[in-house]
Parts: sequence; C-alpha cells; structure tokens
Amino acid sequence: MILKSLDHLNLISKKVADNLSESDCIFLLGEIGVGKTTFTRNIINYLQKKKNVEITDVLSPTFNLLYEYKIKKFKIMHYDLYRIQEEKEINNLGILSEENNTIKIIEWPNLIKGSFKSRLEIYLDYTKNENEREIKFIGLGKWKNFKYEL
Ligand SMILES: Nc1ncnc2c1ncn2[C@@H]1O[C@H](COP(=O)(O)OP(=O)(O)OP(=O)(O)O)[C@@H](O)[C@H]1O
Ligand SMILES: [Mg+2]
Repeated sequence: MILKSLDHLNLISKKVADNLSESDCIFLLGEIGVGKTTFTRNIINYLQKKKNVEITDVLSPTFNLLYEYKIKKFKIMHYDLYRIQEEKEINNLGILSEENNTIKIIEWPNLIKGSFKSRLEIYLDYTKNENEREIKFIGLGKWKNFKYEL
C-alpha cells in the first residue's frame, strides 16, 4: 500500500495502536530514515493521548538501544538494534524475556527474526516521491488476519 504523506502513516499507525494489547511485538523493517521511528512516535503519542497521560518526546533509541514509556498499566519498550553486532548483546537487553503488560516495538530486528511467534512485521520502503512511502504488513499469530486500510 502506498502512503502518500505523513498523515497517511499516522492513520495507519493509529489502526495498529488500536489493536495492540498485552505482550505484543512489532518489528519495523526498512532502510535508514524511511520512517520507523516516526511510526513508533505516532503510536506512542496516540496511546498517551488516548489514555490521558502526558505526551512525551519519542526519540530514536539508536544510541540508547531502548527507551521505555509507561502508559497506565502498559509499558512500551522501543528498541533499535541497528548497532547490535552480536546475539549475546540481545540477551543483555532482555529483549526476549516475557513480561506482562509490555509491548515491544523493535527497529532493525534482523538478529532476532523468528523469536516472537506472534508478531506484526511492518516493512517500509521509499518511493520516487519524497514524502511518500510504501508499507507492507506480515502478521503472524494473533496478527494473522490484521486488515489495514486507510
Ligand atoms: N510518509 C512518510 N512516512 C514516514 N516518514 C516520512 C514520510 N514523509 C516524510 N517522512 C520523514 O522521513 C523521516 C523518517 O525518519 P525516521 O527517524 O522515522 O526513520 P527511521 O526509519 O527510524 O530511521 P533509522 O533507520 O535511522 O532509525 C522523518 O524526517 C519523517 O518526517
Ligand atoms: Mg529509527
């Protein structure tokens, strides 16, 4: 599906956010600067607003590897694994541990592919037009029948 603008990305991110529940996992895939963090920011800010908690900055966890957001009883963990070289560093991050009420959104999940049985994979691609993107979804487990429309 083609997203003509940031507004379209925002609409899709809300649709994903409304389907998120306990222990969900989202993989965000696509080249540098394509919009993975922007998508995550939309989700987090939308849920903060919906749940009446303070709207915060959502920065790229490129250097920190992880930022956490508490939204009422939920926690969102936003990872960026771009800089991770070895799988043992993944273990140190605790990314694969099961935690209740925790939603994981993971940029550059290449090293942990196959780790979550239930997950939504979102692929973003550039197009010829500057503010346009192509988006694709692959849903596994509970996300198998996820429908996305603008
Ligand atoms: N339709 C669109 N969807 C997403 N981002 C867009 C769109 N149009 C323009 N942009 C811009 O593209 C940039 C995407 O940057 P972002 O940091 O989200 O990318 P990223 O995929 O997280 O990069 P990285 O791999 O470095 O983490 C932002 O500046 C955003 O405003
Ligand atoms: Mg990013």
